[in-house]
Amino acid sequence: MTDRNADLVARAKRVFTPNYSPAEIVLDRGEGAYVFDVEGHRYLDMVGGIAVSALGHNHPVLIEAIAAQIHRVLHLSNLYYNRPALELAERLVAHSFADRVFFCNSGTEAIEACVKLARRYAYDRGETDRVEIISFEHSFHGRTYGALAATAQPKYQEGFGPMLPGFSWLPVGDFAALEAAVSSKTAAVLIEPIQGEGGVNVPPSGFLAACRRVTERAGALLIFDEIQTGIARTGRLFAHEHEAVTPDLMALAKGLGGGLPIGAVVARADVGASLAVGRHGTTFGGNPVACAAGCVVLDHVNSPEFLAHVSQVGEQLRAGLTELAVSTGAFKDVRGRGLLVGAELADDAPFSSADVVKGARSRGVLLHVAGPRVVRLVPPLVIDSAHVDEALDAIGATMSELIG
Ligand SMILES: Cc1ncc(COP(=O)(O)O)c(C=O)c1O
Repeated sequence: MTDRNADLVARAKRVFTPNYSPAEIVLDRGEGAYVFDVEGHRYLDMVGGIAVSALGHNHPVLIEAIAAQIHRVLHLSNLYYNRPALELAERLVAHSFADRVFFCNSGTEAIEACVKLARRYAYDRGETDRVEIISFEHSFHGRTYGALAATAQPKYQEGFGPMLPGFSWLPVGDFAALEAAVSSKTAAVLIEPIQGEGGVNVPPSGFLAACRRVTERAGALLIFDEIQTGIARTGRLFAHEHEAVTPDLMALAKGLGGGLPIGAVVARADVGASLAVGRHGTTFGGNPVACAAGCVVLDHVNSPEFLAHVSQVGEQLRAGLTELAVSTGAFKDVRGRGLLVGAELADDAPFSSADVVKGARSRGVLLHVAGPRVVRLVPPLVIDSAHVDEALDAIGATMSELIG
């Protein structure tokens, strides 16, 4: 038995299904904005477990709260109440539009619950034809059948048909198509306030408000998927606050647990009421350890100073990437909000976003992609200005090398 990356990778390739294609390093521990592989190499983590590790790695307050809860009790089920779940639900209600909370374990489960709830809410009002869910091109909502049916990217659905009926997609930003599509058959419109996986796409100003207006008029619900954009990622606790538009339902996950698996649906009172006794559930939902972590994360990120910090370092990152776009000509667009940042490669750049990720990794910086042409940066929210400079140096050197 050795602890060499190459040996462990070789073993991993023999036992895992090949659905992921991880970098050939085995990460072992983390500290703040850095992670270390089993051979002790250090990497600046500009991925944060894909927009999850909001407080960075090994945050002392988070670790202490999790450790305390582990010593108290690990799991209880929903046959009983537990204090961490209650306290996290109270925080979510206090700091959002919502009155009711349903906990689950991942983003895809939160979307699944939103879709079920939207249909059931209509059914409870005698509107049994109101079953359609409208989502948007390039969206990503998860991999289970309900979430997958709403995920408007053919590559994710290919070969897994038949999809659930009742789902359709519109182009983001097409106000006329939105007006025309939403009807008395629409149970809900489902949208990411900023598309993450689909390319870090910010909808045109006023589009979320149009979704609100049109759904209200048609008697349909509006669901925001804030799984990637929520929990301070964009410099507000929830991204929809930038547009002052309020949904009826919101899906959360990723950053909420600071690294432990958790998902949540938060809903207006009358909507939440449709999850009546026995209608939905999951064994692990409201797990006290995950919820204790969630309380620490929310307490940490939900202050004006912290939110301003996220906005400032996010601006520094975008400004630096924009400078690289000008000096190298290899990026045609830099976009996003707060620390959800995407840099799209120029059409004539003879390399892919994965090549940029690989080059930066060889320089000790971890990046991610959002499709073949967009480099995505979703680092821990606690990164500082020196981390941003370190990332920009590695990206700049990578671009110079790739351009040749
Ligand atoms: C916007 C959005 N929705 C849903 C999901 C699915 O979440 P999970 O991977 O936790 O199931 C993701 C994950 O990337 C996401 O970014």
